[in-house]
Amino acid sequence: MDYKKYITVVEDWPKEGVRFKDITTLMDNGPAFKSAVNEIVEYAKSKQIDLVVGPEARGFIVGCPVSYALEVGFAPVRKEGKLPREVIKVDYGLEYGKNILTIHKDAIKPGQRVLITDDLLATGGTIEATIKLVEELGGIVVGCAFLIELTYLDGRDKLDGYDVLTLMEY
Ligand code: PRP
Repeated sequence: MDYKKYITVVEDWPKEGVRFKDITTLMDNGPAFKSAVNEIVEYAKSKQIDLVVGPEARGFIVGCPVSYALEVGFAPVRKEGKLPREVIKVDYGLEYGKNILTIHKDAIKPGQRVLITDDLLATGGTIEATIKLVEELGGIVVGCAFLIELTYLDGRDKLDGYDVLTLMEY
């Protein structure tokens, strides 16, 4: 499916010079959203996934329907101060800004096979940080799936050695 026709490119948001890729117009369209989720589910089926992990907020939108379809759990990665129990943390750089990501210490059991999902691969800072969290807890990252890849930001360079699926490239 040509998913790009469902993405709205918003000029100069959240700041000048950024061409923001708005996925809400893809989510709005039931068949298109289902098809995108199903592509990730099919990708994951051969990988014997134990758990899906996604960073807030849009990693939840992609990851939760995938985990539901695969009948495995979903563990949220959240910005600092949002998870209520004991966490591990990592610093990361964003396309615009800096932040700290956290995951519950008991979210992953050592040896679990993890699929990481997000809406967008830009600089790769978020996914790199998410991989660090998963691996620090002993999880094995067997795949990373995104709706969109911004190839000009070279985020894939941070994913050398990992299996990556993206449904659209800009
Ligand atoms: C956006 C996007 C990805 C990340 C990609 O999230 O949803 O998670 O940036 O950028 P990167 O590859 O350069 O790290 P954001 O941090 O804006 O959080 P949000 O989804 O909570 O708005």
